[in-house]
Amino acid sequence: MSTLDEAIGQAHRSVNPLAFSRDWYRRELERVFRRSWMFVAHDSLIPSNSDYVVSYMAEDPVIVQRGRDGKIRVYLNRCRHRGNLLCVHDRGNTPAFVCSYHAWTYTDGKLTGVPSIRDFYHGEIDRSKLGLVEAKVEVYGGLIFACWDANAVSLNDYLGDGRWWLDHFLLREELGGLEVIPCQQRYIVPVNWKLPAENFGGDYFHFAATHGSVIDALAQTDDKRIAATGATTAKADKPHYFSVAANYGRGAAHGFYEVSTGQAPRNQELALAQRLGPEAVEWFHERERLLNEKLKALPQRPYSFHVANIFPNFALVGAGSAFYGKGLIVHHPRGPNRTEAWVWCAVEKNAPAIVKKQQRFVLMQRQAAAGLVAPDDHENFERISETIDTGVGRHVPFHYEMAIGHDDDDPLPKEWKDRPNWPGKIGPRVSEINQRDFYRHWNTLMETGDEE
Ligand code: FES
Ligand code: FE
Repeated sequence: MSTLDEAIGQAHRSVNPLAFSRDWYRRELERVFRRSWMFVAHDSLIPSNSDYVVSYMAEDPVIVQRGRDGKIRVYLNRCRHRGNLLCVHDRGNTPAFVCSYHAWTYTDGKLTGVPSIRDFYHGEIDRSKLGLVEAKVEVYGGLIFACWDANAVSLNDYLGDGRWWLDHFLLREELGGLEVIPCQQRYIVPVNWKLPAENFGGDYFHFAATHGSVIDALAQTDDKRIAATGATTAKADKPHYFSVAANYGRGAAHGFYEVSTGQAPRNQELALAQRLGPEAVEWFHERERLLNEKLKALPQRPYSFHVANIFPNFALVGAGSAFYGKGLIVHHPRGPNRTEAWVWCAVEKNAPAIVKKQQRFVLMQRQAAAGLVAPDDHENFERISETIDTGVGRHVPFHYEMAIGHDDDDPLPKEWKDRPNWPGKIGPRVSEINQRDFYRHWNTLMETGDEE
């Protein structure tokens, strides 16, 4: 195995394909995923006591359950007897899980039932030591995160600068928050998980080249459902766009991009609302009023970010438009060259039905397995993956040097007299700052820790 110095170039300006190869994958599971907070489900999917859904933390299957006491817990979905998958259903409601192999039974994570325990075990088994393996859990605005590392920082500290952006532009608690439509889309792509993660974390550069056909299609159609999204093409009151590297240079590297400002995105959104009817217009005005109220002290109030990646593999899309469903996407690693995407659609809880329908439609139209946007990305990721572990290709590094000497340039327009103090490192719309910081944090985790 090569050294990490060979995998990650000087100042993270290049990444050797080895970082995506089988050589590093096992270490990644141990050092990156076992120590990071990971999104596992949304609490609206388990509203009642004993409700559960299954999920994954990297390759580990987990059960996310609201216990009989109302507390949310996350367990490794693995029987402590001989390792059988304990829960084989996607979701449901049960106070106890009974293993299908020898019927060990677990209630709120504790081993509460062993068949014929007196006869077969002579009562000599300590059930208190054989509960399900449990992860740390924190719930933030309905998003359930879990982490295996008992020494991990709090979720609050882990999100760091990113929390402000999520608070204001994704969760929108003042508007009632989000509700997630049950049942996620799932699809497998033959790519390493870091390719979609670094793309969602800051790659606006690819948009025109990769998604040119979508832009053309939207411009040509008369179907108002197809065109009705928050794509910001309006010319009035020139918008500005930025990226944000949350926790830049320290801690977990979360990337946000397509942060828009100015009146143009709002005007275009209003035009979309008018196409949907008076109920949508009224809701949109109220939403704007509440957001303006919340951010009134902030100069150059951003409209939103649109795309993000919360390290390591939780991607967000659709936050940049009131009429785009919020995609909560986990890129589960399934091997060095295989990723299983789970795509949940979240809608704004207090939106009228016609808006929720539109949000769901637009997200699926773009990000579904057969959508207009996601497959274009996957084709590129697949082509990259085919050359990662080849005899020569594996020695030719990827390039992350865009404007690398200009990371500290001020990207805010000079004409702005009121300089906003947004959390995180603000970068230009097109940049590789976020990707470099993603690999900075990845590298820090990979270089430290117990040998696997
Ligand atoms: Fe679960 Fe035996 S493997 S009871
Ligand atoms: Fe894309």
